[in-house]
Amino acid sequence: MKLRFKIPLYLLALLSLLLLVSMFTLGYSARCLQPTPTDQQDSLIQAVTYNCYGASEVLNIELIEKPIPAANQVLVKVEAASVNPLDWHYMRGSPYVMRLVSGIGRPKVRAFGSDYAGVVEEVGSDVSDFKAGDAVFGTANGAFAEYLVVNHDRAIAIKPESISFDEAAGVSIAAITALQALRDKGTIAAGNKVLINGASGGVGTYAVQLAKSFGAEVTGVSSARNHQMVFSLGADDMVDYRVENVVDRDTKFDLIVDNVGNFSPSEFQRILADDGTYVLVGATAGDWIMPFKNIIKLQFIKPKAGQTFSNLMAELSQNDLKLLSELMQNGELRTVIDRTYRLDQVPAAIDYSESGRARGKIIINF
Ligand SMILES: NC(=O)c1ccc[n+]([C@@H]2O[C@H](COP(=O)([O-])OP(=O)(O)OC[C@H]3O[C@@H](n4cnc5c(N)ncnc54)[C@H](OP(=O)(O)O)[C@@H]3O)[C@@H](O)[C@H]2O)c1
Repeated sequence: MKLRFKIPLYLLALLSLLLLVSMFTLGYSARCLQPTPTDQQDSLIQAVTYNCYGASEVLNIELIEKPIPAANQVLVKVEAASVNPLDWHYMRGSPYVMRLVSGIGRPKVRAFGSDYAGVVEEVGSDVSDFKAGDAVFGTANGAFAEYLVVNHDRAIAIKPESISFDEAAGVSIAAITALQALRDKGTIAAGNKVLINGASGGVGTYAVQLAKSFGAEVTGVSSARNHQMVFSLGADDMVDYRVENVVDRDTKFDLIVDNVGNFSPSEFQRILADDGTYVLVGATAGDWIMPFKNIIKLQFIKPKAGQTFSNLMAELSQNDLKLLSELMQNGELRTVIDRTYRLDQVPAAIDYSESGRARGKIIINF
């Protein structure tokens, strides 16, 4: 074979080998380790931890050392936490590409859980905006534990007095996602016809209420068993996805927020107004390419002049948490609580979230 054919062939073989090795490395899950009991008996707290990827059996209820706040941190005694799909994505290390951040083979961080509400017990020497005794809520690593630490300028805000810890614990990730999808990516305006695909889950129940508070006319999609609940949040119309494909409707929507990903962006384009906006929030499950299917399709869509198609990666913003806190205080935003579990029942709570049937939020009460 001539050299000019051999070189590309060798390069292709090398690239294929590299791809195979990377796929094997990313998909490899190390064996679980037995949690090591600590000698430090005086400052131990209960926490849910994990040290390997897999189903909820990998979760341990462990005694760990109580965290100590750094100079810029706040120590929170957790009263309630909530479950998000993000938690089981971390637990499974799936889609595998996230392991580049969470750890290849096994998780780098053993702490588990993200959304919390609780009471500030201690603050670091540089913290002046929070004090011991403040009731707070937000997102931090290791929310499924009796105590956590969080940087004072990150995802932490004062909880309204009239709102319970359980309700506040549900808010952070799901309501920030709903707010940023509608306001930032969706540029929602009063009078808009808004479609929320996946209106009965964590993100959806907040999105319906927020869209109504912006003065929009809201159509939601869920199975029929959830219609009354979503109507009670203010929805004007509901579609049962088990009997009707919403993308076959005649209505044109100004804004579509897709929390599910079961239709492609081009299918949604059929029911998007000529100057409408589509925001992709949710993804279908899968370890490799499936969760990115619609993001890839977004790159190839041909929007009409005036149409916008985008993908949301929500950012935890303290200002947004403060806004959500005000909306809760004013009675414009509430948490729909589906089921409540104890800390030692976190694996069952995660299994329920993975079933995809949560109606509003799943709460862990301490
Ligand atoms: N992009 C981001 O930054 C970001 C941030 C947060 C979350 N997310 C993603 O957003 C998605 C939603 O999160 P979530 O917390 O709301 O999840 P969730 O609470 O687990 O959602 C469950 C709800 O989805 C509904 N649902 C399931 N299949 C449906 C379908 N085919 N059509 C309409 N509704 C359907 C279910 O209603 P029925 O029981 O009636 O079927 C259920 O009430 C997840 O994929 C999550 O990973 C993305």
